[in-house]
Amino acid sequence: MKHTHRLIMALAVGAGLTVNALAQSPAVVAAPAAAATPAVPAAAAPVQKDWQAPDISKLPDDKYGQSVRQGKALMEETYKHIGPEVKDVSKRYAGNNLGCVSCHMDAGGRKFGNPWVGTFVSFPQYRGREDAVSTTEERVNGCMERSMNGKKLPLDSAEMKAIMSYLHFLSTGLPVGVKLEGGGTLKLKALARAADPVAGKQVYASTCVACHGENGQGVRRGKAGDANGYQFPPLWGADSYNDGAGMARITLAAGFIKGNMPSGITHLNAVLTDEQAFDVAAFINSQPRPVKANTVADFPARKNKPVDAAFPPYTPGFSAEQHKYGPWQPIQAAREKGVSPAK
Ligand code: HEC
Ligand code: HEC
Repeated sequence: MKHTHRLIMALAVGAGLTVNALAQSPAVVAAPAAAATPAVPAAAAPVQKDWQAPDISKLPDDKYGQSVRQGKALMEETYKHIGPEVKDVSKRYAGNNLGCVSCHMDAGGRKFGNPWVGTFVSFPQYRGREDAVSTTEERVNGCMERSMNGKKLPLDSAEMKAIMSYLHFLSTGLPVGVKLEGGGTLKLKALARAADPVAGKQVYASTCVACHGENGQGVRRGKAGDANGYQFPPLWGADSYNDGAGMARITLAAGFIKGNMPSGITHLNAVLTDEQAFDVAAFINSQPRPVKANTVADFPARKNKPVDAAFPPYTPGFSAEQHKYGPWQPIQAAREKGVSPAK
């Protein structure tokens, strides 16, 4: 009897738990999890290939629908709501005038464009950076302090609630713990050589400068101080992400760029070679940008620190420069032998 009970519980966990926006929500995006396989541990869960963001226009104009729409607006036009130029000084949580969607493409709906579809059902999760289980709110604040070079949104603020509503909506119908194809950015095979900012400057001049500008400062939608953000965002300088951000890691930036830039392409019709993507990422990340305070407190479990995180402590025997530009395999090999960045 006990055994049967446990089996039923396992089936329920494997197939039954989904995020439901509303009982009547028409926006079920995902087919139910492929035939329940309760005997398989979560780590081996099948990867769901086909998915798309649910259609927000089908949401009713009730309290939930309004909150979801507020969240989407805040993540699209972040600079208008919580940017450093908004009138209400107490709302200036972000330190730059980017939008969340400067890096989360198609409002979080694009494969390999840092999608948010599936995020809500993958948290709380263990995170190597903190060496602890983190909530979705804490993950958002990770981007607030790094990608947005700002400060944490209070957990109970209207802004955080709106962001949670939109993330919740994007996982409508998805089973808890599902793995979606195309999460994060393309994982490119590391080069055997160091990424080369000088070669990257050429790529920048031919393929990026038209939008992001000669000095990487992008193009404002209006003028400085008007909280209208950018038509083309800056890639370095005071109004960009800081050195603790994911995008400041050359491997992550290269994967993002290859799958999404120049704007208009996706991973299906990428125009850059892997080498060009690494080199242009190295060029961008060799330029000045805000410095995050106390990055040394990141990754308290030093073994979790990514080999390309370009801030101390470093793996003994390898320079700061090699951590930043590669080649990363020798560092990786040392780490696999148990060599860890010093305390
Ligand atoms: C400069 C680029 C950039 C900006 C701007 C940015 N993010 Fe991110 N975000 C990333 C990257 C890159 C990752 C993945 C990082 C990694 O894999 O370590 C990420 C990951 C996330 C995740 C986790 C997704 C998942 O499923 O694991 C959430 C949630 C998130 N960001 C929310 C936000 C919000 C909300 C904003 C705006 C307030 C924002 N981000 C702004 C680059 C950015
Ligand atoms: C046609 C205009 C255009 C071109 C060309 C272009 N970008 Fe972008 N880029 C954008 C826009 C617009 C965004 C904001 C996201 C969006 O709306 O697509 C963006 C976002 C980015 C971001 C993340 C946001 C940030 O501010 O850091 C990076 C990094 C980036 N581009 C790098 C590049 C690189 C490298 C190239 C050249 C290989 C390139 N872009 C070419 C328009 C362009």
